[in-house]
Amino acid sequence: MFHDLLRKKPIRHIDPTSHLHRSLNAIDLILMGIGAIIGAGVFVLTGVAAATKAGPAIVVSYMIAGFASMFAAFAYAELAASIGGTGSAYSYAYAGFGEFIAWVIGWDLLLEYSVAVSTVAIGWSGYVKNLLTAIHIDLPIALTTIPTEGGWINLPAILIIVLLAAILSIGVRASARFNAVIVCIKLAAIAIFIGVAATQVHLENWATFSPFGWEGIMQGAALVFFAYIGFDALSTAVAETVNPQRNVPIGIIGSLIICTLIYIIVSALLTGIVPYSTLNVPSPVANALLSLGFRMAAGFISVGAIAGLTTVMLVMYYGLTRICLAMAQDGLLPSPIAMVNPHTYTPIPTIILTGIIMASIAAGFVPINRAAELVNIGTLAAFTFVCSGALILRIRYPELPRPFKTPLFPLLPILGIISCLYLMINLPIFTWVRFIVWFLIGLVVYFSYSRQHSRLKKEKQVQSIQ
Ligand code: ALA
Repeated sequence: MFHDLLRKKPIRHIDPTSHLHRSLNAIDLILMGIGAIIGAGVFVLTGVAAATKAGPAIVVSYMIAGFASMFAAFAYAELAASIGGTGSAYSYAYAGFGEFIAWVIGWDLLLEYSVAVSTVAIGWSGYVKNLLTAIHIDLPIALTTIPTEGGWINLPAILIIVLLAAILSIGVRASARFNAVIVCIKLAAIAIFIGVAATQVHLENWATFSPFGWEGIMQGAALVFFAYIGFDALSTAVAETVNPQRNVPIGIIGSLIICTLIYIIVSALLTGIVPYSTLNVPSPVANALLSLGFRMAAGFISVGAIAGLTTVMLVMYYGLTRICLAMAQDGLLPSPIAMVNPHTYTPIPTIILTGIIMASIAAGFVPINRAAELVNIGTLAAFTFVCSGALILRIRYPELPRPFKTPLFPLLPILGIISCLYLMINLPIFTWVRFIVWFLIGLVVYFSYSRQHSRLKKEKQVQSIQ
C-alpha cells in the first residue's frame, strides 16, 4: 500500500513500485482500513467528548460523524476506482481541477496528516503512562504533561515520533499480514472491553442522557469525527490490489461500517459503566475498567490501544511524507523534499523535517482535543472537496469509466458536502482561525514559490517555445 503513493508521478531515478505485486484482496483491505481507522479517536477522544461535550449522547455523536464519513467514503471509493493513481485527494484534485485547487487540498492534507500524527502521539503517551503506572513505574508528571496542564513537556509523545521517523527512514516493509496481526490485537482489546463492560452497565449512568443538548451532541460529533479518519488511506492501495475497481470500494466501505458499529457499542458501554463526567482523562477506556477493579483487562486494553495507535501514526506519517513527495514532484514544494535515498528507498529529508514539526506540536504546546479539532477541520474540508469532486467530475467527464458508482447519486455526495460543512461549523472558532491562518499561509507560499516552480508552468513554457 505504502509505495503506491509514489505512483502517479513516479520518481525518475528510482521506482520503488516496480517490485510491487497485486496481492491484496478485499479482506486484506478491510483489515488495513481497520488498522488505519481505530486509534486515538475511540481510545482517547471518546472520554473528553463524553465528559465535556455530549455526555452519554456521545453515541449519537458517533452515529452522526459516521454518516458524514460514509457519504465521503462513497465519493472516495468512486474516485479511487475511476482515477486511481496515488489515491490522495491531492491527486484527484490535480487530475480533475488543475494545479491551484490541488495545491489548496494538498496544503490542507499536510495540515491534516501532520497534526493527526501529533494528536495520536499525545494519545499514545497517555496510554503508555497508564500502562507503566499499572506495573508501578511512575514517570515524572513534568515529563509527561504539557505546560498548560502543569508539566514541562510530553516526552513520550516526542519519543514515539522519533522512533517512527527512524522506522520510516530505514524502510517500511508493512505487509498485510503484519497489519492483520496488529489489527487482531486491537480488536481483541476492544472485544475484552465489550465483554467486561457489558456485565458492568449501570443504567443510572445514562439517566441524564444528553446533558449538553443538541449543541453538545453536534460538538461531540465534530470532535469524534477524528475516530473515522484513516479510511482514505486505503485509496492509496489501488496498484497493489487484485481487481482494485471492486476491492478498494469494498475495503473502504466495509472497514468504515465495521468501525462505526464498534464505536457505537464502545461509546454506549463506556458511558454506561462509569459516570460520563469521570471520563476526561488521557486513557478513558482503560481507566474506566481500572476504576471498576479490572486491572488485568485494563492492562490488555492499554496494550491494544498502544499497538493500534502506533499503526495509525505510522500510516499517517507515511502518508504525509508521500503527499509531500507528490507535491514536490509537481514542483509545488522545494525539490530536495522529493529526494529519495538510493539505499533505503525512503525520502529521508522529508521524514526528518516533518518529524521535527510534528514532535514540536506533540511536545506540549497543544492539548489533544485542540489538536484533534484542527485535524478534523482539515479532513472535513478535504472530504467536502472529494464529495464535490465526485459530483463535478460526473458532470464534466460523464464518459470517464466508473467501475464503482456512488449510490443514490447525486443525493449522497450532496449530503456528504452538507454534513461535512455542518460538522465544520460546529468546531470552535479558534480552530477556524487556525485553519484560515494555515490557508492564508498556503496562499502566500503558492503565489510566492509554488506557482513559479511548478512542473505545469515549466511544461507550458516548453510548449510555447516549441
Ligand atoms: N482515526 C484515527 C484515530 O482515531 C486517526 O486515531
